[in-house]
Amino acid sequence: MSSGSRVNRGYRIVRLVSGAHSVHSLAEAETFHPVVGPVAEAEALYVRQLDLVRRFREAKEEFVVWDVGLGAAANPVTFLRAVAEAPGRIRVLSFDHTLEPLEFALRHVEHLDYLRGYEEPLHRLVREHHAVFNPGGPRVEWSVRVHDFPSLVQQAEAATWPKPHVIMFDAFSPAKNPAMWTRPLFARLFQLLDPDRPCALPTYSRSTLLRVTLLLAGFFVGVGHATGEKEQTTIAANSPALVREPLDRRWLERARRSTSAEPLETAVYRQAPLSKATWEHLLQHPQFG
Ligand SMILES: C[S@@+](CC[C@H](N)C(=O)[O-])C[C@H]1O[C@@H](n2cnc3c(N)ncnc32)[C@H](O)[C@@H]1O
Repeated sequence: MSSGSRVNRGYRIVRLVSGAHSVHSLAEAETFHPVVGPVAEAEALYVRQLDLVRRFREAKEEFVVWDVGLGAAANPVTFLRAVAEAPGRIRVLSFDHTLEPLEFALRHVEHLDYLRGYEEPLHRLVREHHAVFNPGGPRVEWSVRVHDFPSLVQQAEAATWPKPHVIMFDAFSPAKNPAMWTRPLFARLFQLLDPDRPCALPTYSRSTLLRVTLLLAGFFVGVGHATGEKEQTTIAANSPALVREPLDRRWLERARRSTSAEPLETAVYRQAPLSKATWEHLLQHPQFG
């Protein structure tokens, strides 16, 4: 995966085979963007797949992004760079239980080029958890909540957060980070959306377990764009119009035979085939009607 590294406390910079650099968490033994690198992945998964530049230009209101798993900020920064020339207003709500990866990344901008030009607002975000700036383009208001996301999202105050147009969902893998991939978490995310504001949630995983979880939570779910690392990812949305290649009955039949399809109810990772109740629930989903 990597051909070189620079160690610093709980994180290190790794050089990927693509030549790009990424942050690696020693505690989780996970690289944030392991193959194509942070920018290529964010461009494929969010900017191009969701046609974000056009959607942002056409938005009449403030464009709201929820960035779950801020990490080293590659996802929101790649979006902000893509729309840097367009007028408008952007609100980014980032979530992470630690700002250490971002602080670490800001000490290694020489390897994480995508951060160049955004250092000042990002340092402010680290210090004050809030930054408003206008790099000659859209007005950006960026805040970060430093908290355990699964518990934060269940609190009543989550209902007062500005409703998102996009959710960038970038936790570690379900096996390493099961608390971030449970059915109750995605059900709550779905409940927090504005039914009148189409919102897409792309994520890098294509696992059956995740797709069933999203369907049960209420989302429409489809095959997401390749990222260079994976030939398929997953896209979920509260509007079927945002899902170009919806999962179909053939996928449903494969899910029925899968040995790892039953959603996680708690933060404990385990693999299990679909229960009878989940299967019946899936059959009721409007996507398969
Ligand atoms: C793959 S990294 C995110 C990479 C990031 N999106 C980027 O562009 O650099 C996953 C992030 O999820 C965060 N995370 C993991 N568990 C969490 C939890 N329970 N609550 C909040 N954040 C969590 C980690 O701290 C880590 O920064």
